[in-house]
Amino acid sequence: MTEKTDSKKVLVLLGSPRKKGNSATLAHKIIEGAESAGATVEQIYLHGRNIAACQACYACQKPDSKGCAIDDDMQPIYQKLLDADAWVIASPVYWFSMSAQTKLFLDRCFALLAYKEGAFAGKRVAVAMSYGDADPFISGCVNALRTFQDAFAYVGAKMVGMVYGSAEKPGEIESNQSLMQAAEVLGRKLVTS
Ligand SMILES: Cc1cc2nc3c(=O)[nH]c(=O)nc-3n(C[C@H](O)[C@H](O)[C@H](O)COP(=O)(O)O)c2cc1C
Repeated sequence: MTEKTDSKKVLVLLGSPRKKGNSATLAHKIIEGAESAGATVEQIYLHGRNIAACQACYACQKPDSKGCAIDDDMQPIYQKLLDADAWVIASPVYWFSMSAQTKLFLDRCFALLAYKEGAFAGKRVAVAMSYGDADPFISGCVNALRTFQDAFAYVGAKMVGMVYGSAEKPGEIESNQSLMQAAEVLGRKLVTS
């Protein structure tokens, strides 16, 4: 029996400056899994985009808010986030947490509810992370994983799974066969009920 998908939309946010880096490699395996299950996928490299830090103006939190007050590259991303059924967030570990590019994006998601009531509800999320140390605790990866877990639980999104592993040079993570397989499985799970 084939799995039911009804062509889910997946938005992938890549938070490393390395386009062919380890977190992107993991994300691409998730994409392979999602596409093999019939999903359509769009990728966004956050690095190099004009995404400012949240300025804590709280314009997005006002009852009649029209959205985030900052007019930058995050504006089209809000719409893409709303349109997608599932999100993949990929980041390297930088200084015992996620990369700055990823954190800027995450902070700006504070405004998403201003664009649509219940914007996070029912969104399915997968996270991919890589780090240089051999251990996910010593590397600080668990700090970021925990941040994603807490943040998406808080807003009522569904964390479908997280894949993470150790690698230093760009793409080196590909030699970790079991991790690559886990990422592909996660991609399928992300878009199948
Ligand atoms: C600025 C910077 C900070 C880093 N901080 C950590 C760290 O705290 N812990 C760790 O294990 N690796 C750290 N690393 C190594 C990266 O996490 C590792 O190389 C990762 O696989 C890079 O992923 P990417 O190829 O997707 O960019 C750091 C690398 C850079 C450039």
